[in-house]
Amino acid sequence: MCSRKNIQMFRGEVSRGDRESLNAHRAAVFWFTGLSGSGKSTIAHGVEKRLFDRSMRAYVFDGDNVRHGLCGDLSFSPAARTENIRRIAEVCRLFIENGTVCMCAFISPLEKYRQMAREIVGEADFYEVFVSCSLEVCEERDEKGYYKLAREGKIKNYTGISAPYEIPENPDLIVETDKESLEESVARVEEFILAKVTS
Ligand code: ADX
Repeated sequence: MCSRKNIQMFRGEVSRGDRESLNAHRAAVFWFTGLSGSGKSTIAHGVEKRLFDRSMRAYVFDGDNVRHGLCGDLSFSPAARTENIRRIAEVCRLFIENGTVCMCAFISPLEKYRQMAREIVGEADFYEVFVSCSLEVCEERDEKGYYKLAREGKIKNYTGISAPYEIPENPDLIVETDKESLEESVARVEEFILAKVTS
């Protein structure tokens, strides 16, 4: 992975395995994808709290938050969305070395973005969670009012309205937030994560 000229990787004395042993769970990335308003962040934060209460090391990376800082310079053009996902996936790679259960809540609308994230993180540590919710329900919720603005043409390239969303073909887990309650979705994701990192 270290392909930069004149830059060598430094290996510390504390390994990923050491950290995982201390934490009593493995590290992995759970990549939530879905339309804006589908419930990615809400579910991820709900699960984070439950894992924290089990004394686990878990952290949520959230599109809206990351775009205020690390990715504050990025728009929603295809190139910028690619860069957004690339940066988060690279940060997750570091967090994996830190022994952390990472939950990433990004629309990541195209298969190629999700595939890139999977390649950067590494197949063995990457799980895709599809937060399924019809556009109609997301638009009805419209918690931020952005769908309305997108319909009026005041926000360009809005996913689901004027920019595409590709439904994942083979996700590791699907939660359907237009059919099940938040509590059910959180419980199902928690159960899935526990099975992958603690069993
Ligand atoms: S991604 O496509 O690059 O994965 P990301 O998850 O980081 O998107 O950010 C999505 C959030 O940014 C949405 O929840 C929404 O609040 C806001 N947003 C602002 N403009 C857009 C847009 N054109 N398309 C999608 N989301 C947008």
